[in-house]
Amino acid sequence: MSATEVACRIPDHSDIYSDIFLAQPKTIYEAINHRCEEDSLRGCRITTFLELYPLVCYEEPLRFAGNLTGRSIFCSGLSRRAVDSGVADYMPSTYCDLPAQVREYFNVDVFLISVSPMDRHGFMSLGVTGAASAEYLKKAKRIFVEVNRQMPYCAEAPKVHISQIDALCEADYMLPELDPPKIDDVSRKIAGFITERIPNGACLQLGIGSIPDAVGMELKTKHHLGIHTEMLTDSMIALLESGAADNSRKKLHAGKTIATFAYGSEQMYKYIDHNPSLAILPVDYVNNPYVIAQNDDVISVNAALEVDLTGQVCAESLGHKMFSGSGGQLDYVRGALMSRGGMSFIAFPSTAKNNTISKIRPVLSAGAGVTTNRNEVDMIVTEYGVAKLRGRSFGERAKELIRIAHPDFREQLQFEAVKMGIML
Ligand code: COA
Repeated sequence: MSATEVACRIPDHSDIYSDIFLAQPKTIYEAINHRCEEDSLRGCRITTFLELYPLVCYEEPLRFAGNLTGRSIFCSGLSRRAVDSGVADYMPSTYCDLPAQVREYFNVDVFLISVSPMDRHGFMSLGVTGAASAEYLKKAKRIFVEVNRQMPYCAEAPKVHISQIDALCEADYMLPELDPPKIDDVSRKIAGFITERIPNGACLQLGIGSIPDAVGMELKTKHHLGIHTEMLTDSMIALLESGAADNSRKKLHAGKTIATFAYGSEQMYKYIDHNPSLAILPVDYVNNPYVIAQNDDVISVNAALEVDLTGQVCAESLGHKMFSGSGGQLDYVRGALMSRGGMSFIAFPSTAKNNTISKIRPVLSAGAGVTTNRNEVDMIVTEYGVAKLRGRSFGERAKELIRIAHPDFREQLQFEAVKMGIML
């Protein structure tokens, strides 16, 4: 049927769910927006994760509050404003735990998903997404599917069978592409500090943002790298295609690239299509620290918005205003910590807003969420070097962090650290 007919099957007062990025069905979203504009859908709520296509509940939340409200588990630019003004909601979660939360707490009246075309056995691959979809499919009272002709078929990803589906529409649109990261001298410098510590044969997770991507780009001279990651990125495809990554040293899934979702360029989507060397698996498996740690030399590289002098890392909010979400940062910090030879790096430029704000602060901004706690943090990196925090006291940490802060802020940070009583 058409996307409009699919959306018309959503009953009033439904709790609607969709999964991360490209799993979202653009045409069904458009049809839902239309129903809200017509006032023919009432009292529904949608829970989203890294929103990719506009929804009225985030665009004009007050106007459509009686039709559809939004709840985000990880904000993108599309939901941030509504969440930060309190008219849409935010739900904290460690990514690895999300499928268990779906199982235990979510009342999934409707699950919406975009999938690849059906194979001759009636199965549709969930394209480029493992994430929490398998759990949503088990829990949903109604499954509504958009089959996008251009969604890659991932050989090893969760599948949905035609017999499970309540309604289906077909679409044929190009998947959106992630803008290539802007890699400047500062990111290259930071990437240099990290890559010189990465041994050949290491198993990589690279997070969201330009710094993790810059690290990926700098690793082309390495050998036998492995990939076990939350998000598959273009820099990883470049490592695989250049031969720097071949997954040959992995103890778990040797020879295979493992991710829980992908988002990048068209070239990446082509790489994924029917590729037997790649598996996109559920996030409670991929991001489980005990699974991550089965490989040796796990290297996790993630970004942050600010860090305090004791090592508390905020990567999700600017003060109390949600910017993104926790995602799997802590999952990989933990997995790397437990892996033999593993290391986790939290990396960012030392300042924000044209050098007016130091991202290393005496205390986190009021309301900031702690994404990686100070008990598990390992290394912090800026363009001024690497601060090893694990195994170090408050005083030692403060000294290390001040050393890698921007020179303009070091004196003030030292003064505050002494005032707070964490160093002499
Ligand atoms: N104070 C004020 N503003 C700040 C700031 C600070 N301390 N730090 C950053 N900003 C601003 C930047 O100037 C930028 O503003 P702009 O959009 O107006 O240019 C914005 O906040 C984003 O900062 P940036 O450093 O460009 O972010 P990024 O795209 O590199 O992403 C995170 C960094 C931390 C937001 C991102 O990695 C994230 O969401 N992580 C959470 C989850 C995670 O790590 N998952 C890992 C597994 S995939």
